[in-house]
Amino acid sequence: MSLTTTKKLHNGVEIPVIGLGVFKVPEGESVYDAVRSALDIGYRHIDTASFYQNETGVGRAIADSGIPREEIFVTTKVWNDEQGYDETLLAIDQSLQRLGMDYVDLYLIHWAVPGKYKDTWRALEEINKNGKARAIGVSNFLPHHLEDLMADANIKPMINQIELHPQLTNVATREFCKENDIAVEAWAPIGKASYLDDPVLQELSKKYDKTAAQVILRWHYQNGTIIIPKSVRASRQKENADIFDFELSSDDMNIIDGMNIDNRLGSHPDHLNK
Ligand SMILES: NC(=O)c1ccc[n+]([C@@H]2O[C@H](COP(=O)([O-])OP(=O)(O)OC[C@H]3O[C@@H](n4cnc5c(N)ncnc54)[C@H](OP(=O)(O)O)[C@@H]3O)[C@@H](O)[C@H]2O)c1
Repeated sequence: MSLTTTKKLHNGVEIPVIGLGVFKVPEGESVYDAVRSALDIGYRHIDTASFYQNETGVGRAIADSGIPREEIFVTTKVWNDEQGYDETLLAIDQSLQRLGMDYVDLYLIHWAVPGKYKDTWRALEEINKNGKARAIGVSNFLPHHLEDLMADANIKPMINQIELHPQLTNVATREFCKENDIAVEAWAPIGKASYLDDPVLQELSKKYDKTAAQVILRWHYQNGTIIIPKSVRASRQKENADIFDFELSSDDMNIIDGMNIDNRLGSHPDHLNK
């Protein structure tokens, strides 16, 4: 088990279970250095979005790394104001141009924009068929959004990327995805580092001799969740990837499940403010 450990999506595409998130990493040298460092450490999966405005730096870092393009899994996302059928077909071309690539591995609808996401999904199906994205999926979709989307879809989403961490365990959405063979990917997997000092996590950290971040990331991994922790620092990128040499007991998995307080750090998917 390592950074190249993958999970198979329902269309057969393999995604590395750990990736590097780059939300809020500034375009230019910052994102370039973060991605180069992660690739040096062994990461082979990068999660960006047109909204992050750093696709150019991500693409440059990947190109300069010398690692064959097909060995790196790249995700980007269509932003809310790019949604609609024609708009999304344009948005993917603009993302690819910024990335300097002729395909991405995964293209996601960033949020379920009411009245738009079904047309956006038709575009994603086209993008998948024409090879510009090897896999397609959604982000921040609740079960009712997925049911509505799948009622008309020809291709079922391969992934749902949702806010997911011990204080927001999102059980209903995870169950729905499991029943429908849609892989779950956690954003803010360590809760944006906002409660790593929680006494429950600190106790588990001592017990397993791992950091609180590693305990949380291991909990995700044992749940079968794909994780994309963000760090611009090589030491933390290494730390976040070093979760394969211990195993949480089922009692301790339950203790972490019990931390849920429905604490959303981002928008509620039904109440978009952007
Ligand atoms: N689909 C969506 O709507 C959506 C929304 C938000 C995020 N995302 C994706 O998910 C990725 C991860 O989410 P996120 O960035 O919001 O939150 P996160 O990964 O849970 O936390 C990132 C924060 O934790 C710090 N950190 C990282 N590793 C640490 C460690 N081992 N110990 C202590 N602090 C640590 C980072 O600081 P340093 O960088 O200074 O180390 C940063 O401040 C994003 O980067 C993005 O790719 C998607």
